[in-house]
Amino acid sequence: MRQALLQAGASELSYEIRGIVKKAHQIQALGLPVFWENIGDPIQKNNYVPDWMKEIITQLVQENDTYGYCHSKGVLETRQFLAAQTNALGGVQISEEDILFFNGLGDAIAKVYQYIRPTSRIIGPSPAYSTHSSAEAAHANHQPLTYRLDPDNRWYPDMEDLYNKVRYNPNIVGILIINPDNPTGMVYPPEILRRIVNLAREFNLFLICDEIYINVTYNGVRPLALAEVIEDVPGIAMRGMSKELPWPGARCGWVEFYNRNQDAEFNKLCETLDNAKMIEVCATKLPQLALPLIKQDPRFLPYREAENQKIGRRSEIIRQILSPVAAIKFNETYGAFYNTIVFKEGMLRPGQYLHIPNPQVQHILETQWLMEENIALDKRFVYYLLAAYGVCVVPISSFCSDLQGFRVTLLEENEEMLRDTFSRIKTGIEAYVASA
Ligand SMILES: Cc1ncc(COP(=O)(O)O)c(C=O)c1O
Repeated sequence: MRQALLQAGASELSYEIRGIVKKAHQIQALGLPVFWENIGDPIQKNNYVPDWMKEIITQLVQENDTYGYCHSKGVLETRQFLAAQTNALGGVQISEEDILFFNGLGDAIAKVYQYIRPTSRIIGPSPAYSTHSSAEAAHANHQPLTYRLDPDNRWYPDMEDLYNKVRYNPNIVGILIINPDNPTGMVYPPEILRRIVNLAREFNLFLICDEIYINVTYNGVRPLALAEVIEDVPGIAMRGMSKELPWPGARCGWVEFYNRNQDAEFNKLCETLDNAKMIEVCATKLPQLALPLIKQDPRFLPYREAENQKIGRRSEIIRQILSPVAAIKFNETYGAFYNTIVFKEGMLRPGQYLHIPNPQVQHILETQWLMEENIALDKRFVYYLLAAYGVCVVPISSFCSDLQGFRVTLLEENEEMLRDTFSRIKTGIEAYVASA
């Protein structure tokens, strides 16, 4: 090319969650089974949209209006419905003007960071969900800035770490919370949320709270929404329909702006996001039309409660299988549908291995996968687990974390398959750590 094409931040984009899939496909191409534990797509795990929801969507498909553009901020009635739901929580009050629809939350995440000045940073949790950390890093042309979630304290944020980083880095303008969290399954307790709100107030920051899993909690926990605790601090809540309906292919998510009039700079960011969507005309319309019809249907809440109970039951099965494993730290989960398993210090060492029954797979592992430069120890384990037991998980080092471990999902609908997959993981861990 006449000139370099890419801007500097482009190299910060990475999405290991899908990267590992290429390797798993190599295994499948040899006719071997793969147990997919890499991605939070409920549909891939046979958790389908119920028929009654499909009927609502089918009716909408018959109407001519469904096929046109909508308001650039999103369908008015849907925004009114969502604003009323937030207001009913009794915290911050918003109107339909404070809601903006995107083509999935992934789109919203990319846009929110894109328009912030490169030198102004948003600090987010580590382990980090890579859609946030990559987009923030790409906007800043720098590695992500993170605060520690502590595996020795139920994955709660290390508040001292967060406080010190905010205090000593004047470039930090905002704090990201993912509640419930991906990849740890932790739900932020009320007192920690309140401390983060106070920290934002003290240093004049705004908050971003990704609440895509806000209605996916179990084991007796109800999460607090940002709207309930934020009081007068400016903030953005991010929500979507990929997980709770579940309709990830709808590509439909939205943001809610809280207290945009409390701060002129924050208000300018909100206006810029409104304008950016106007330039694109609008977000996908069919899911927006379906959203209030589905959520107001008397079958929705019982449906969600039953689904959450199923996830809770799976979390218990996984706990029974993995918590006795001496080499790892196991934390129970309360929200979203992931768990992050961390190896105890010193458990992973170079030279460890698993017996690979298939010689072709062994060849691919040794001549391709393990040839990566400076391969992280947990990535090495993950490759061996895939090669030896066919289980595809994501290494935690690729979630901007110094910890060694991997993320699994709680999505497998088939209990026998769930038990089989996690028994393979258990056997894999024990054989690997004992091998050298
Ligand atoms: C925390 C979090 N935020 C956002 C997203 C993206 O959601 P969407 O499908 O709406 O783009 C995901 C998807 O897994 C997620 O886990």
